[in-house]
Amino acid sequence: MLFIIQQEWYRGIGDKLPSLSIEMEVFCYKKEDRMMEGYQKYKRQYFLPPEPCMDWAGKEYIEKAPQWCSVDLRDGNQALIIPMSLDEKIEFFQLLVEVGFKEIEIGFPAASQTEFEFLRKLIDEDLIPEDVTVQVLTQAREHIIRRTFEAVKGAKNAVIHLYNSTSLAQREQVFKKSKEEILNIAVEGAKLLKKLTEEDGGNYRFEYSPESFTGTEVEYALEVCNAVLDIWQPTADNKVIINLPVTVEMSMPHIYAQQIEYMCKHMNYRENVIVSLHPHNDRGCGVADTEMGILAGADRIEGTLFGNGERTGNVDIITLAMNMYAMGIDPELNFTDMPHIVEVYERCTRMQVHMRQPYAGQLVFAAFSGSHQDAIAKGMHYRDAQDPDHWTVPYLPIDPRDVGRVYETDVIRINSQSGKGGIGYMLEEYYGYDLPSDMREQVGYYMKDVSDHEHKELLPNEINDLFQKEYMNVNAPYALNDYHFVRQGDIVTVTMNITYEGKTQFITATGNGRLDAVSNALRDNMNLTFDILDYKEHALSKGSSSRAVSYVKIIDCRKKNQWGVGLHDDIIASSVQALFSAINRAVAQRREAEKEAEA
Ligand code: KIV
Ligand code: ZN
Repeated sequence: MLFIIQQEWYRGIGDKLPSLSIEMEVFCYKKEDRMMEGYQKYKRQYFLPPEPCMDWAGKEYIEKAPQWCSVDLRDGNQALIIPMSLDEKIEFFQLLVEVGFKEIEIGFPAASQTEFEFLRKLIDEDLIPEDVTVQVLTQAREHIIRRTFEAVKGAKNAVIHLYNSTSLAQREQVFKKSKEEILNIAVEGAKLLKKLTEEDGGNYRFEYSPESFTGTEVEYALEVCNAVLDIWQPTADNKVIINLPVTVEMSMPHIYAQQIEYMCKHMNYRENVIVSLHPHNDRGCGVADTEMGILAGADRIEGTLFGNGERTGNVDIITLAMNMYAMGIDPELNFTDMPHIVEVYERCTRMQVHMRQPYAGQLVFAAFSGSHQDAIAKGMHYRDAQDPDHWTVPYLPIDPRDVGRVYETDVIRINSQSGKGGIGYMLEEYYGYDLPSDMREQVGYYMKDVSDHEHKELLPNEINDLFQKEYMNVNAPYALNDYHFVRQGDIVTVTMNITYEGKTQFITATGNGRLDAVSNALRDNMNLTFDILDYKEHALSKGSSSRAVSYVKIIDCRKKNQWGVGLHDDIIASSVQALFSAINRAVAQRREAEKEAEA
């Protein structure tokens, strides 16, 4: 295309063109068409380490669960519209213990009276199990540290978590302090923790976080952490936790991994330091940050259930743990009753678990699409028949039952997008009807049409009801009242009592089998034109009493294929009923078509 380009026009790539008009072939649009001009004010605020740190990229997966620390009751709680009450905190604490957390940051006791009382209640009423360590957060400020020690007094095991902000932005804009002054805040805080612990005699371990680590020059963060470690002098028996938070996510995950690898490689006392990560999720990459950070050398993870926390939240520990689980690694946490965890979480936090929340949302195992359902149905059969010890079912990253979900309502879901595979699977798995494959297709189209027409999902019991109503033991306009067979050699004679349009009559015919005789009787006496194309029968495997089910396919006078189903205690009765169902369906549809044609 040839355009005359003037100064107020821009190129697709954003350059301003010179003021003179020029003629050139280029894709262009007016300035006011352009979206989101605001991006120009952003700049990258993170810092790369001074040397390449990419060893982590050569590792394939996480081989062992990290040490988990829940910060739901601190970082998660501080981000709630209405923070949890004392009772809610207790209930949530118990949930975390049930899930298997051995380290739980229970609050910032110097920040609020509820937090202080909560910690006191846990200690005074002996509510902390022996193998669980509570963790409390404190800023590196003297009065806050002192108050924290008052709150934690008497705890059997505790981690005192000290932090101060170290990023360039915070140093320049918030604290207006030099690097050295900020380092001193950390060092003075570390000294006070050590002194108060010695005085108190409690069994306390220490954690230090250079808060806003992701906006801190990596070498400087290392310098601060090493200075704190010099004060605390970690040993094999008294390891120190250095927590490197993604306070705000600023980079892609591979940058964070490089920062972590650098810290791990250069940190003093490394063998006596537990390197911890605490990712937030501003760019939606909290899980990726954490996984790459673990590959880069981290030992411990702080996060929350369902990723609750400041702004976009903390990293979701459930996703992390279940990602490991789905790769065949024991996550050392227990999410077998996810619906219960969701229930307690939603009630205590007043937050909602998103329907698509990995491993936990209402819809995360649901397959509506026909091709997905078909693959799942085949995958489940394959697993049952060929590889029961492994889970490789397409479209289902884990077995939903592992997290307390049920196939019946959570997996194959039927709407207008669904297909024969899913509907057939549902009828077979939940109700025992093993439809011939050709019939699955017809029933599939029928159910999809109903769902489309009514604009709603069809639940398994609705599918079953519709199937029975539309296909099974259909007894009008031809009603079968009674029948009697006599066999002489290869010839079978049938006598049937039927009712058609209010008139009851006996009809009879012979055939070379039972169904053949019944067909002949209907053709000869009732002037019906049809042929039987297919037949299948089986015992109904589901339900209390065992019954026989038969499927008959006919081609009718309009050359249309029609299926019918018969269900009866007696296999012969079920097959005759199936034929009547197919004929009655064909007649009903022919009449409908005639009515439409007349209209
Ligand atoms: O996100 C953060 O940096 C924190 C620190 C206090 C660890 O919550
Ligand atoms: Zn945080």
